[in-house]
Amino acid sequence: MARILFKNASEVVTPQGVTLQKGAKMADLLVIPGGFVLTKDGTIEAVGDAKALESVDVTDCQVIDCTGKTILPGLVDSHTHFIFGGYRENEFNWRLNGESYVSIMERGGGISATTTATRATDLDEFLALGRKRLASFASHGVTTVEGKSGYGLDLETELRQLEAMARLNQEHHIRIVPTYMGAHDLPPEFKGRPDEYIDFCIREVMPKVRAKDLAVFCDIFTERGVFDLAQTRRYLEAAREMGFGLRMHADELFEGFGGAELAGALKTSSADHLLKISEAGIAALEQGGVCATLLPLTAFSIKADYAPARRMIDAGVGVALATDMNPGSCYSESMPLLIALSTIYMGMRMEEVVTALTLNGAAALNLAEETGSLEVGKRADVAVFDVPNHRFLTYHFGVNECVLTMSGGRIVHQRPGAF
Ligand code: NIG
Ligand code: FE
Repeated sequence: MARILFKNASEVVTPQGVTLQKGAKMADLLVIPGGFVLTKDGTIEAVGDAKALESVDVTDCQVIDCTGKTILPGLVDSHTHFIFGGYRENEFNWRLNGESYVSIMERGGGISATTTATRATDLDEFLALGRKRLASFASHGVTTVEGKSGYGLDLETELRQLEAMARLNQEHHIRIVPTYMGAHDLPPEFKGRPDEYIDFCIREVMPKVRAKDLAVFCDIFTERGVFDLAQTRRYLEAAREMGFGLRMHADELFEGFGGAELAGALKTSSADHLLKISEAGIAALEQGGVCATLLPLTAFSIKADYAPARRMIDAGVGVALATDMNPGSCYSESMPLLIALSTIYMGMRMEEVVTALTLNGAAALNLAEETGSLEVGKRADVAVFDVPNHRFLTYHFGVNECVLTMSGGRIVHQRPGAF
């Protein structure tokens, strides 16, 4: 792999470090006017200003002139469900007509509709759909994407979703971090028997996922009417025992369920959604060092109140932002819309959003030592935006300004005519 030099950027912008950035630290970015980033063999070799570049030997480099553009670390989308069959545009229209996400779920739509369609989707189709969706993530500057199973809910389909991600990981240069999410919903075969279904996940599925090395994390939908706290604890403790990292969908739909409190007690890598988090839940995340992964596109799509990002950051919590791209509650991978919502409606500063979409997303996936910032030795994950500084990413809202994405040293997206 050649050495590639991105130079003359109007700004190189990055958080710094190898751990979750909490509270006030989230706004602490390194901003280098006129900066450069040099990559070699998939790794960042040097970063600095024009003066520092003078002492670097650049004779054999491929040069990308970034005049007028801003360079960020490659974005990390740390919560998605991008491998699924079928679509639910009908439900979206019912919601436009006033029906709620919960009432659609209660009358058999929602996740179970996608489960039926996903069970009927074969591996080749997952691969074809997955390629298209990965290209779209890449076009938004994303270099690492988490992907969950959880639309099969039976052994074969869960393994097929995960197998699809493993294959895509071989052929595509965006890194995929796979999560087993058997406990996403109760499948029809286990109606009225959630404890037995949790047993099935623990005894029949998790060991096979482990043996084939198909997932890094296990995730569960902890919510009234889905899986309760005792079931969550049992599922996640078994997962931890088998060597998986832990994450939770918590406090999305109903108040006072205690999901975040449990995430704090279990010290999961991440607790996600948190629209209805309590003050005790915020304190528990802070004490447990748990990343709060907020998903504003979902709140927007289901017309719910946004997660209290400002209160969490002010309480010292480390926040990540992700899309939650899925066919039901949030069929969008739009980073520009996510940035607009988190700054305009959630009280986050653009600097905090940069950290939330890079280093903290990486930390939520236990990858902060490898990616999430532009620092020597980290993976060459780079996103270039056609804006004069990072504040334009919210000011010019709703417009995708990403013109180049490099993942692991390879260019996976480049807008024609941008350079
Ligand atoms: O993260 N909340 C649970 N799971 C998904 C929604 C899945 C769906 O509606 O298909 C989420 O929003
Ligand atoms: Fe989700």
